[in-house]
Amino acid sequence: MVQLLRKGAVICLGLRQLIDGGFSIDNVAAIPSKALLVTEPLSYRSPIYDRREDHLYKLAADPAGMMYTATATARKNNLKLYHEAMASQANPLPYTYENQVYSNGLSSNRPPFTFNTQNWESAAKERLSDEAYGYLWGSAGTRETEDNNRAEFKKWGILPSRLVPDPVTSLKTNLFGEEYDFPIAIAPVGVQQLFHRDGEIATATAARKESVTYILSTASCTSTEKVAEANGGGSRWYQLYWPDNEHNNITASLLNRAKQNGYKVLVVTLDTFVLGWRPSDLDHAFNPFLRPDHIGVELGLSDPVYHKYYEEKFGKPVEADLSPAIAEWVRILFSGISHSWEDLKFLQQHWDGPIILKGIQTIADAQRAVAAGVQGIVVLNHGGRQQDGVVSTLAVLPEIVEAVGDRLEILFDSGIRSGADIAKALALGAKMVLIGRPYVYGLALGGEEGVRHVLRSLLGELQLTLHLSGIKSVSQKDLNRSVVRRTGF
Ligand SMILES: Cc1cc2nc3c(=O)[nH]c(=O)nc-3n(C[C@H](O)[C@H](O)[C@H](O)COP(=O)(O)O)c2cc1C
Repeated sequence: MVQLLRKGAVICLGLRQLIDGGFSIDNVAAIPSKALLVTEPLSYRSPIYDRREDHLYKLAADPAGMMYTATATARKNNLKLYHEAMASQANPLPYTYENQVYSNGLSSNRPPFTFNTQNWESAAKERLSDEAYGYLWGSAGTRETEDNNRAEFKKWGILPSRLVPDPVTSLKTNLFGEEYDFPIAIAPVGVQQLFHRDGEIATATAARKESVTYILSTASCTSTEKVAEANGGGSRWYQLYWPDNEHNNITASLLNRAKQNGYKVLVVTLDTFVLGWRPSDLDHAFNPFLRPDHIGVELGLSDPVYHKYYEEKFGKPVEADLSPAIAEWVRILFSGISHSWEDLKFLQQHWDGPIILKGIQTIADAQRAVAAGVQGIVVLNHGGRQQDGVVSTLAVLPEIVEAVGDRLEILFDSGIRSGADIAKALALGAKMVLIGRPYVYGLALGGEEGVRHVLRSLLGELQLTLHLSGIKSVSQKDLNRSVVRRTGF
């Protein structure tokens, strides 16, 4: 058979025959590229043939391109079947994702994305430009803060409880008087078109389909209105990068647009009045906001009050020359000077729903938040992106919960990479957990479907982990300090 292929023959045959015919990574290079090999989808892999079929997978990536036609078709078929399966079950109990995948496997349909949560990052890296990957993965300085975030999770262990015949754990949670299907939310992440052409639209759609709250970043590539449209009947909040006081009218406009478009909770990010010291971006001399294709600035470009301000100050409309107009917008958002606690009053006057402060790391600041009269805080260190050498978020969560947990809602963010991580953060007192980089890796891997896969995987694993521990629900009465133990220091 190899001889025939060498002569440029078109051959149709199955994988087994192909392997049995002696086709391997070692002899493919000699085959001319006009030869065409058609096989059944590569999703069909008998476990018995596993080791030899690995050859085929390598061939698929071989520059000789021999297997390309077959592989691309296989991937497409595989994705199509997967899409159908995803669409057929709107918002199932998350743990049933596992059953669904195994039963699809019976008809030779393998999932197009890995379930190995640790591999999402490396898989995304293969797809992204160095700049985009650097921006996503990047953290401040030596990445010690991010390492601290991860290390802390390993110091806590979940304690199982046996012979508990309860039904599977309920993941519903209550926040600000509303019931949410799941105790997780999509963390605000800017410039999502850097990672996939569908950017925020893909993520907001995925969030709606999986019944997970979407938090829109002020640094989005898509307007408040268009994201609301994609998110439709889903739950959505708005994250504010807070313009300096001189531009309160712009802030009021951003809040007003969010309110008008169904964003229910205001999340105010406190730790990013200037971008952190990030070697991965500095090495590439890359600031996504200043790119010539103008991504991450759509909320400014679509804001009527900003347009008016710009025209009055510079004597020309924003459209006349986009680059300086964008530079001005970025300067207003990241002014380099922090707001003060006093300034919160302005937001309270212009927002009638709950306000959450994102970026609290100490008891003192949590108490100030209580005194300021906000409804919630997100305990986080921005995933280590802003400051190096900072204490891990999980390490400070218990003391903050103890100090103020009865006076406002406490959310958690930074370092979540698995369902078990979510379980630990909830057990240590968080009401809701924000998912950051993992869903962006999913976005890079497969747009909307990639994000859905990440959300389903995390929720499915969370639900099974809790169920196997005999925990009835994610409410504090069932999921609390008694179900975890600190095992390391
Ligand atoms: C690429 C990227 C962009 C981000 N953009 C924003 C943003 O626009 N607003 C914001 O409040 N936080 C932003 N964050 C921080 C996330 O909301 C979240 O706090 C962080 O990702 C948590 O860390 P983890 O991803 O390591 O879990 C961003 C994070 C990443 C990775």
